[in-house]
Amino acid sequence: MNTPKQRITVLGSTGSVGVSTLDVISRHPDRFEVFALSASTKVDELLAQCARFSPRFAVMASSAHAAQLAEKLEQNNLPTRVLSGIDAIEKIASHEEVDAVMAAIVGAAGLGPCLAAARAGKRLLLANKEALVVGGELFMRTVREGGATLLPIDSEHSAIFQSLPEDPSTWARRIDKIILTASGGPFRTRAPETLSSVTPEQACAHPNWVMGRKISVDSATMMNKALEVIEARHLFGVLPEQIEVVIHPQSVVHSMVQFTDASVIAQLGTPDMRVPIAVGLAWPERIESGAGRLDFRQMAALSFDAPDAALFPGLGLAWHALRAAPGTTAVLNAANEVAVQAFLDRRLRFDRIHAVNMETLEAVAPSKPASLADLLALDASARAAANAAALRFAA
Ligand SMILES: NC(=O)c1ccc[n+]([C@@H]2O[C@H](COP(=O)([O-])OP(=O)(O)OC[C@H]3O[C@@H](n4cnc5c(N)ncnc54)[C@H](OP(=O)(O)O)[C@@H]3O)[C@@H](O)[C@H]2O)c1
Repeated sequence: MNTPKQRITVLGSTGSVGVSTLDVISRHPDRFEVFALSASTKVDELLAQCARFSPRFAVMASSAHAAQLAEKLEQNNLPTRVLSGIDAIEKIASHEEVDAVMAAIVGAAGLGPCLAAARAGKRLLLANKEALVVGGELFMRTVREGGATLLPIDSEHSAIFQSLPEDPSTWARRIDKIILTASGGPFRTRAPETLSSVTPEQACAHPNWVMGRKISVDSATMMNKALEVIEARHLFGVLPEQIEVVIHPQSVVHSMVQFTDASVIAQLGTPDMRVPIAVGLAWPERIESGAGRLDFRQMAALSFDAPDAALFPGLGLAWHALRAAPGTTAVLNAANEVAVQAFLDRRLRFDRIHAVNMETLEAVAPSKPASLADLLALDASARAAANAAALRFAA
């Protein structure tokens, strides 16, 4: 019997995760079909993807970029229809003909489309961790009420998901602790006082993973791991104190679950995002991802260590934000997005990203957000406070 192809929307298709997703999809033309793609600025990349995958829709974040894309598609006689703006991104995330949505936009900008996909009951492949950090309980409630299937794509959360039993109703009584591994990024062995001179190029040169610029900086500060702690709390329904972070520089063990009987199950693999993407696309089946295989006979020793709080002061903010008033994780995320952009623009020193995050958390008191509109308003006021703080700490 022939199984119908899954029709996929890839949000953020021109980014690092988006490109890896299309690579996995291209290996399985019998299983998957690209329904729609979205991007923000990279018109030529999206044009090339339209030529290769013939999606029904291509959406650019702005109308100016959409006009450029439409003109180029026409010149190349390509039939893909071009749309623009956040409403259009939400439309391709929730379209009735779509089966699965890869959420690979970076930052809080992806929240609305994720909620739209969740509301429409899609299979939602979540790489866009900021959307869950901002959306929190509201995000998870929308997934439940919409009947969506939420599959984690972050390699750590995919590892935890793969280590857990398939039935989520058994998780609470079985999980003792979730252990997130972290490579420690490019500055793991640096003295904290040397971080003031770090450049964007150095911060984006991750030792094990090739990723977008924002997540690369987050990995260097370990704010990425802080966001992942918040993400894990929501995805797996554990308490903040049940989540632990260990430094594992080799990035072979992608994360672990310790169960109530003290047994630990881990997922291992090469550091290649195509693995968790293939898991999400095919779950509960397994398909070829294109990733290299581990060779245990050639492997160097695996090591594990506690994170250094002086070198990575931002990591602890995850537990602080989770225990604070609802909405605090949204404030932390907005502050960090602003601070990282200021650093990438060379307006803020690397070691002052944390100071901007701290100041913003002190300046903005969240009132319990009950809707997407509340979250967007909170995000906007946190961004205003963070921009002001970044100006004060300017390089
Ligand atoms: N990269 C990884 O290995 C990895 C691993 C785990 C989790 N993640 C998470 O996955 C997400 C994507 O990461 P990435 O590394 O793939 O990022 P990236 O390379 O920077 O790509 C981001 C994508 O989002 C689009 N985009 C940016 N701002 C947008 C906006 N305001 N509205 C609509 N689209 C927008 C970009 O379009 P243009 O390129 O056209 O500008 C691009 O397609 C992040 O949340 C990250 O934390 C990434």
